[in-house]
Amino acid sequence: MIKIAPSILSADFSKLGREAEEVGKGGADWLHFDVMDGLFVPNISIGLPVLKSLRACTDMFIDSHLMIDRPLRYASLFCDLGSDMVTIHAEADQPVELIKALKDIHEHGRKAGIAIKPATPGSVLLPYLEYVDMVLVMTVEPGFGGQSFMRDVLPKLRGVRALIEQYKPGCDLQVDGGIDVSTTPLAVDSGANILVAGSAVFGKTDRAKAIADLRAAADIKA
Ligand code: DX5
Ligand code: ZN
Repeated sequence: MIKIAPSILSADFSKLGREAEEVGKGGADWLHFDVMDGLFVPNISIGLPVLKSLRACTDMFIDSHLMIDRPLRYASLFCDLGSDMVTIHAEADQPVELIKALKDIHEHGRKAGIAIKPATPGSVLLPYLEYVDMVLVMTVEPGFGGQSFMRDVLPKLRGVRALIEQYKPGCDLQVDGGIDVSTTPLAVDSGANILVAGSAVFGKTDRAKAIADLRAAADIKA
């Protein structure tokens, strides 16, 4: 079952509550919440106060993607303020610290994810698989919405799906970056089952149609 997770990075923050409601009513499964610290990525986005406000106005599943250095410092706070899942980056600290952060997320009753950037090999995920519910394979360099999907990540995505089947069956595989109706079939065919889409949803005036179009595209054979 494919899940669609609109990224609110491309939403209008002056009316975030209504934007979330619109995609929820439009059939989105999750809300993807992109957190950037200006260090791990060359951009600063949103953080804890915005998460708290969003949590207060929606019951949707909130999937926080932490693009921050040393996520152990903040992972539990993102749980406490209302994330249903918190994903941290494999490049953001030493393995021992990252495993502590993943355990912390579970101890706070939330789901945990591990993300890799386009150039990071899939094998880097191996020490983390036993501690996660989801793997996120980035299909753009993290930091900005609206970039083009990197097709050369597809062989790695297939490899990560194979690792999941071997070592952690049932673990979700998310893709993030440049997902639209033309790239969705490629990502799904390569094993992704959760699709993050920013501009392909919030960049469209009819969000329900945008979500339905992505869902239909997921059924197309690549
Ligand atoms: C990029 C973010 C993405 C971004 C996706 O660093 O992690 O979630 O919002 O935006 P699109 O779908 O426009 O590439
Ligand atoms: Zn993201």
